[in-house]
Amino acid sequence: MSYQTLLIEKFEGIGVLTLNRPQKKNAMNPQLHEDMTAALEELRYDDAVRVLIITGAGDTFCAGMDLKEVFYELQDQPARYDRIIRLATEWRGRTLRYYPKPTIAMVNGYCFGGAFSIVEGCDLATAADNAMFGLSEINFKGFPGGSVSKTLANLFRPRDALFYGLTGRRFDGMTAANIGFVNLALPAAQLREETVKIAREIAGKDPSALRTTKEAYRFSLEMTWDASMNFTNAKEEELQHRQRVGWKQEGVGDFVKGKFKPGLEGHETIVRSHTPKPKRSQLSHESRAKASALAHEVVDQLTDSTAPEEEQQKRKRKLIRGPREFRDVRKDQHREAPGSKGKR
Ligand code: COA
Repeated sequence: MSYQTLLIEKFEGIGVLTLNRPQKKNAMNPQLHEDMTAALEELRYDDAVRVLIITGAGDTFCAGMDLKEVFYELQDQPARYDRIIRLATEWRGRTLRYYPKPTIAMVNGYCFGGAFSIVEGCDLATAADNAMFGLSEINFKGFPGGSVSKTLANLFRPRDALFYGLTGRRFDGMTAANIGFVNLALPAAQLREETVKIAREIAGKDPSALRTTKEAYRFSLEMTWDASMNFTNAKEEELQHRQRVGWKQEGVGDFVKGKFKPGLEGHETIVRSHTPKPKRSQLSHESRAKASALAHEVVDQLTDSTAPEEEQQKRKRKLIRGPREFRDVRKDQHREAPGSKGKR
């Protein structure tokens, strides 16, 4: 799908979502909030995207909320204003925070006010060392409203939050990294390449384990220690079920068998041939249905359509069941299976 205010690229399991209103410094207008809501929903279920990078077009990451189109022009439209603020809060606050795929904010330039909540909503953040950050709300007689104050409470040290909030002073990417608002600052020319490198590294890891890593961390933040222990124990079981082959058999199992050292490398680096093939029961219902449809198609083609109906049906049944020798082998295998009573 294409969006008025966004660009989407996909490659190597990575999605790059670019806020695309460079003429307005990528300020978040109502259309952008609608587009972001829809695009995050679309990419959530897109198997081609395992890690998502969010960045801005031109020299700006995002100049915050569109002051004109949201705060000024919607003053007399309370319902429309309520909807846009609700969408704005939801996609930056909840959708990104609990997104089932890892997200990286790549701050390529100006990052003001409401844009802080995009950076915080993402799991990781990189910034150009000369990017410019600022809590400019105090300069227009406002305050870090909506989700921004909570962003500060979550990620800033108290003195930094109030220093930048009360003065409106700007800080660069290097400072953002020093105070822990972004993971690292990079020379502007290398920002994309280095950020993609991180995304590629993460995209190679098990998607269910990545999702559970996020969920365990994000929800534990709000829990007591006891609740968190109970929650992560349950998550451990859930992860086992989400994975095609559970992490205990494959990840831990391959360590126990001496195939790799997880302290030094990811499981994805070991030769794929070690990975057990999925059992029939682990194949998806869809794959089984496709295989069955294909088999019936072949059988139809092999059956002489000029033969009497009864003869055709007999031939089809025989083809589907396979030659007698195969059936005998299957029966023998079934008899030998542990716990089998030798009967179908
Ligand atoms: N809301 C609405 N429009 C914005 C905007 C915002 N947050 N930020 C920039 N724009 C618009 C400008 O009004 C201008 O529009 P115009 O060409 O129709 O006049 C256009 O984007 C380009 O901005 P301009 O100010 O000419 O570029 P600049 O490089 O000189 O300055 C900023 C860039 C970001 C420093 C400056 O535009 C600014 O201070 N914006 C407000 C940032 C802010 O306070 N954000 C917090 C919101 S919560």
